[in-house]
Amino acid sequence: MRFLSAEDISKTSKEDLIKNAFDYLENDLKRWNEFKKSPRHATHYPHGVFELMPCADDRYYTYKYVNGHPNNPELDKASIVATGMLADVKTGYPLMTCDMTILTAVRTAAISAIAATHLAKPDSSVLGLIGTGAQSEFQVAAMRQKFDIKKIKYYDRDPKAMDKFEKNQAGVEGVEFVRCKTAEEVVADGEIDMLTTCICEKKHVVLFPYELVKNHPHLFINGMGGDCPGKTELDPELVANSRIVVEFYEQTHEEGEIQNIPQPHEYDELWEIVSGLKPGRRDEDRIILFDNVGFGLSDFAMMRMAYEMELGQEIKILPDIKDPKDLWGTIQTEETPTEEPKKTMEPAQ
Ligand SMILES: NC(=O)c1ccc[n+]([C@@H]2O[C@H](COP(=O)([O-])OP(=O)(O)OC[C@H]3O[C@@H](n4cnc5c(N)ncnc54)[C@H](O)[C@@H]3O)[C@@H](O)[C@H]2O)c1
Repeated sequence: MRFLSAEDISKTSKEDLIKNAFDYLENDLKRWNEFKKSPRHATHYPHGVFELMPCADDRYYTYKYVNGHPNNPELDKASIVATGMLADVKTGYPLMTCDMTILTAVRTAAISAIAATHLAKPDSSVLGLIGTGAQSEFQVAAMRQKFDIKKIKYYDRDPKAMDKFEKNQAGVEGVEFVRCKTAEEVVADGEIDMLTTCICEKKHVVLFPYELVKNHPHLFINGMGGDCPGKTELDPELVANSRIVVEFYEQTHEEGEIQNIPQPHEYDELWEIVSGLKPGRRDEDRIILFDNVGFGLSDFAMMRMAYEMELGQEIKILPDIKDPKDLWGTIQTEETPTEEPKKTMEPAQ
């Protein structure tokens, strides 16, 4: 069985991980109907959430364990960490267990940029970013692989998070970075073509009023922080007036920004657009919102990628079963001596 730590993953360059993630995600989105899919299972606490995210095709079964604890940074811990398991469908035997913290950031950035290539203006060059926490640099890196980004306007209510973001972007050339004093300032003048919102608060936040962007129908919004019941970040009026694209409606209608607007919802699923069954950006007269909550198929694609890249090393977790019916015999107990008892030779009579 393969064991893949965060350290193993970080031996591959971030750019290569994101590039490979595009290929695996696009490939798996295009074979959507081959998957067994279900909404994730969530266990909620007032301060956080635990989620189990399964997905399977006819070769691999995967699941991701992920948390969401917005107050963790106060304890010097990340808001989100994750682990994953990939198993062989034929036998049910696990083939790989891995860190999914980094791969979650990679796949979320990659799917955001894939959505943007279909739903944003092709010549988009100004990116807005609200929330400069753990996910933010991954988001920027993926968008920069797909678009010629010339300017990034960003805001976080924590100045230290913005300092960290600036430090991590220090080597980036040809991009003007504009630190804003409010979320409103990021969007108000209509300069940005694309906006990613990725704050982390377990409540309904309105980062800016619809009024501020209603005359900017060219805008593509990647709303990725609103991903739980009771955890959203956009003005419901903005959501109600946008074209909505989701990953998997069965999950998003409870978890995404659309939980705040009345049903029935009008929406497209991203796989339909990536597969060419539905149009991407048309001559839109309204904002397009990718109501991005994170779906198990994206994690499947990342685990398949890591497994097929042969990252990590072999470890032994399962019992050493020689006789499949003798599990008892694989455990040493006081009653099961480890050595054959010494035979005493009876003296010949
Ligand atoms: N859609 C997906 O697939 C997906 C995947 C990963 C993470 N997420 C979500 O993305 C969000 C960001 O994740 P992260 O790992 O970067 O979290 P993080 O805690 O590292 O960063 C969140 C940032 O948001 C800032 N913030 C919180 N409230 C704010 C507000 N009202 N205005 C401005 N800034 C505010 C915080 O100061 C922090 O810097 C989380 O909500 C997480 O659940 C979604």
